[in-house]
Amino acid sequence: MARIPQSFIDELVSRADIVEVIDKRVPLKKQGREFVACCPFHNEKSPSFTVSPVKQFYHCFGCGAHGTALGFLMEYEHLEFPDAVRELASLVGLEVPVESGSDKGESLAPLYEVLEKAARFYRDALKRSPAAIEYLKQRGLTGEIAAEFGIGFAPAGWDNLLVGIGSETDAHKSLLAAGLVIRNEDGRFHDRFRERIMFPIRDSRGRLLGFGGRVIGKDEPKYLNSPETPLFHKGRELYGLYEVRQALRDIPRLMVVEGYMDVVALAQHGVRYAVATLGTATTAEHLQRIFRVTAEVVFCFDGDRAGRGAAWRALENALPEAREGRQIRFLFLPEGEDPDSLVRKEGQQLFETRLKDAVPLSRFLLDSLALQTDLGSLDGRARLVELARPHLARIPDGVYRMMLAEELAQRAQVDSGKLTMLNRAAPKAAWPAGGRPGGRPELNSPVRKAIAYLLHRPDLAGLVADPKGLAGLDMRGMEVLKDVLEFARTHPHINGAALLEHWRGSETGIYLEKLAQAELVTPPEAMSSEFQAVMTDLGSRRPAERRFQELASRDFSTLTNEEKAEFRRMQHAARPQNTGLKG
Ligand code: UTP
Ligand code: MN
Repeated sequence: MARIPQSFIDELVSRADIVEVIDKRVPLKKQGREFVACCPFHNEKSPSFTVSPVKQFYHCFGCGAHGTALGFLMEYEHLEFPDAVRELASLVGLEVPVESGSDKGESLAPLYEVLEKAARFYRDALKRSPAAIEYLKQRGLTGEIAAEFGIGFAPAGWDNLLVGIGSETDAHKSLLAAGLVIRNEDGRFHDRFRERIMFPIRDSRGRLLGFGGRVIGKDEPKYLNSPETPLFHKGRELYGLYEVRQALRDIPRLMVVEGYMDVVALAQHGVRYAVATLGTATTAEHLQRIFRVTAEVVFCFDGDRAGRGAAWRALENALPEAREGRQIRFLFLPEGEDPDSLVRKEGQQLFETRLKDAVPLSRFLLDSLALQTDLGSLDGRARLVELARPHLARIPDGVYRMMLAEELAQRAQVDSGKLTMLNRAAPKAAWPAGGRPGGRPELNSPVRKAIAYLLHRPDLAGLVADPKGLAGLDMRGMEVLKDVLEFARTHPHINGAALLEHWRGSETGIYLEKLAQAELVTPPEAMSSEFQAVMTDLGSRRPAERRFQELASRDFSTLTNEEKAEFRRMQHAARPQNTGLKG
């Protein structure tokens, strides 16, 4: 995949001014060293949304939203990361360079191209196929909606596409790589999709990734998808997301359904916010995509056993994404119906009134578990708590988990004292940085303090003679501190936001984002001395003995001058002490 080089993102984030970026969209007022406004991500009357020009970071005390200028653009403009980079680059006046996908050795451009050509071929073929048109009509689709979704038809026969667009140079290779043709054992090519209605699958920017094809004849299977290709990864894409974003400026919610036809039929009847997973369970990646564009998701399943099973799998994958401010619900349809059949029967209005019966994640979870026990008995209620515990543990620490634990305690009739124990007993998120959600985390360890200083002023890293000197100090977050020091030292002109962007999407990134919200009361002029004090404090935490042994074990000539001096000091300090013990 053509990638934007990380070095460019580092530079871009260091050059951009978050105050300028946000102020253009949400007018800011200066207040002390920061800027404030009413939060654009939740409803409020008094401003709790603050933007720090020093940290190049925003944070809302109301809803906990936070991030860098890039993060703001992603949230506010509903942009995917590369698009947010492009947007920010154009604001700053930088040209986005592209790293050719040298690891893959080949550009993906020919794949996109051949997919577009195929889509055009299938659309033209649809126009020339009365049987396919009749099929779509029978299923209640208009020409407009078919055109909007780019629906086409792969005619019967083994080489229509091959002959249609494969005559050009290199086309066979691209067709094969894009998953549109198959090579037999004897080396001959044939079309993958034959006599099927073709649904183009796009990414959220509208680029074609692959197709889903439904039989109109008697072939098996009913639906055939593109295979995994360098572009197409089934567990990642949501069919219809691009079309939703085209149709709606504000996306009230996304409804996740099972089939292509469900998405198209719902859109045809005015329910414009449906997307489908492609024959897979809902993955964590799907959910991250979803919550990038809306705060509400409704999973829609058949009311039968299979539907319940699928809903439970979706729930399990949704737990890590559950938190306050997000709504995750489950809608079960009457047996034998799917969204397509139902919306055709009852129309948009009646269909949408079903939304009020959608079951919140918390209720679905506890109801399902309660079915496995007898709540009438003490043992049964205790078992409910045990059953719920691992699920609760997968929800990020915060208000939402607390409330769910409370609901559980009520059902299990556990008193509130045990309830807090329960909440605490659940394993914490990977990097607990403390603090209540929405509030500031506390800087209650020297490691956290040091990192917070660096997020304010990455140049402070230059004051540390040798970050490797911290090696062997086994403290929470130490690895992160070392990484940040290392990176900041080798990139002397970056700001705090660039540090955050560098680790975007990783565990370290989550930890850093939390710490970036911490409040440093240190006045700017005292920053460097305070930082040095923290680092000295850290250095002194290591048992002198261990440090001494470490220095002693290394080749003396590789030690820095400071380390040599330190070693000599320790040698001198150690001798009298030893003789003292002996005598
Ligand atoms: P369903 O079998 O529920 O079909 O598959 P449907 O959507 O109701 O289809 P129609 O109404 O008969 O046209 C739901 C989804 O599961 C995947 C497809 O993504 C389909 O949309 N699927 C189904 C496959 O990938 N392969 C299959 O053979 C069947
Ligand atoms: Mn159906």
